[in-house]
Amino acid sequence: MKRTDVLVIGSGAAGLTTAIYLAKLGRNVTVLAKSEDLSECNTRYAQGGIIYKGINDNPEKLVRDIEYAGAGLCYNASVKVLAEEGPKLVEELLIKSAGVPFTGQNGKMHLTAEGGHRLKRIIHCDDTTGYEVEFSLLKYAKTFKNIKFEAGKIAVDLITDQHHSNNMMARYKNPECFGAYVFDTKKKSVVTYLAVSTVLATGGLGRIYLHTTNPEVAVGDGYAMAQRAGADLINMEYTQFHPTTLFHRDANRFLISEAVRGEGGILVTQDGRKFMNKYHKMGSLAPRDVVTRGILEELYERNEQFVYLDLSSIDKQTLSTRFPAIRKKCEEYNIDILHDPIPVVPAFHFSCGGVRVNSRGASSLSRLYAIGEVSCTGVHGANRLASTSLLECCVWGKRAANDINSRWDDNNKNSLPKFSEWIDHGLEEFQDPALIAQDWNTLRNIMWNYAGPIRTHKRLKRAIIDLRNLQEDIEDFYRNTKLTRSTVELHNGVTVALSIVRAAISTRSSRGCHYIKDE
Ligand code: FAD
Ligand code: SIN
Repeated sequence: MKRTDVLVIGSGAAGLTTAIYLAKLGRNVTVLAKSEDLSECNTRYAQGGIIYKGINDNPEKLVRDIEYAGAGLCYNASVKVLAEEGPKLVEELLIKSAGVPFTGQNGKMHLTAEGGHRLKRIIHCDDTTGYEVEFSLLKYAKTFKNIKFEAGKIAVDLITDQHHSNNMMARYKNPECFGAYVFDTKKKSVVTYLAVSTVLATGGLGRIYLHTTNPEVAVGDGYAMAQRAGADLINMEYTQFHPTTLFHRDANRFLISEAVRGEGGILVTQDGRKFMNKYHKMGSLAPRDVVTRGILEELYERNEQFVYLDLSSIDKQTLSTRFPAIRKKCEEYNIDILHDPIPVVPAFHFSCGGVRVNSRGASSLSRLYAIGEVSCTGVHGANRLASTSLLECCVWGKRAANDINSRWDDNNKNSLPKFSEWIDHGLEEFQDPALIAQDWNTLRNIMWNYAGPIRTHKRLKRAIIDLRNLQEDIEDFYRNTKLTRSTVELHNGVTVALSIVRAAISTRSSRGCHYIKDE
């Protein structure tokens, strides 16, 4: 059994920001990461950038763009917090403290636009913003002696007094969270981590879809754990699909940043015809949900598999200095972006919904916070505006740290309750990898085909039936097999898939990235 002041589950932008501000306030923090590599997370792959401030920009203009992209479902109070505090925090944390090397010259940072932004206000590190943000934050966080990092540690379940306390009377109280059961991937055993407060910063869920921009860690662990512990999840039907990922069998849906369109790239059909103006007055730079559907409409109509991103209006110097990583990746597939258009298709990108939190990152379960992509602050509404996610991680990370600290004495008044250790229910050691692979294939195909960018009532109904059957098999397997990373992930993956589909079925009308063709 281990004890820490605050357990932060996740080492992306959200987890690191929370840990840094907690450490500054004197708290002892343990940060867990699923992989051996602490930096393996969605944050690391962010390309386009992070919102700062444009020329003649102000918080009201940013609020207007976020809310327009969010299709009328953004929570105005949260959007205002982001718009007012975000740019100041970029300066305080990312520029001054962590020293993120944003692109610019003569002390002026280069500003770009992306879909849905009516002016240039995004700063970036060429096209590898996430890599620089992640490594700068990690480096800075490692300067604090009161932050302890533990890699290769997978949180399996949150500990609540309702579910796990030795005290039978705990059920009569309001439930509280006191840490997590954590699977040590090296020792292959589960350790109890007790904490006064727990922060879920586990990122997104893209890997439950067949096609996604997300790395392998993103299977929705945090959403599933929170749900099992009894925290509220909201807006799960609003799953965002990015319009432009590289179309190639082996490219694993590599993202082609929206910033390429921000610099002048235009979407065209395979015979070179511009089409986005047909769907929105902002053309190729319309909000993501609109561009994704525009592309899919063209593909269905023309029976084709991809559209092109035409870069001919961007000068070659800009293309090569501004997008070096995209250029390199395309070259691996014999596409020379200085001369060729890029074949692109949409893929799952971001979960707008998640664990419902307040303006301080606190969930509906006492002592449990959720920050970053796993949370739902209401900022993104039904569709996220580009480059708001990293900003949200920072703003809510700092706010949560302050809130945890302000409640410190009250929360610490009584010593932590006693909990039972994890009971290893697994009977069988052996696992057949073919079973797990097939279950993942089934799950990902169901989600892509029935709960993808274009949904119908029939598809969603079918999804729920198929997912329920799959969940029964997986649950049985999970209960009778020793834990491994793959069993934990599969178990969570099917849980979160069902949350999405249930939410999608109950929201009968289209809005933002939840689009029902036969509503
Ligand atoms: P992550 O960065 O994904 O971190 C999650 C952490 O949780 C990881 O450390 C992981 O190991 C850990 N974890 C997960 N499950 C467990 C578990 N069970 N136990 C222990 N640890 C666990 N947003 C922008 O604002 N601007 C952009 O330009 C941008 N570009 C993007 C490009 C790509 C390709 C992608 C995929 C996303 C992009 N986004 C962008 C979105 C943004 O990157 C993410 O939403 C954001 O980084 C999420 O940060 P996070 O800290 O919440 O999660
Ligand atoms: C991109 O670079 O297109 C992704 C930006 C984002 O997801 O905010």
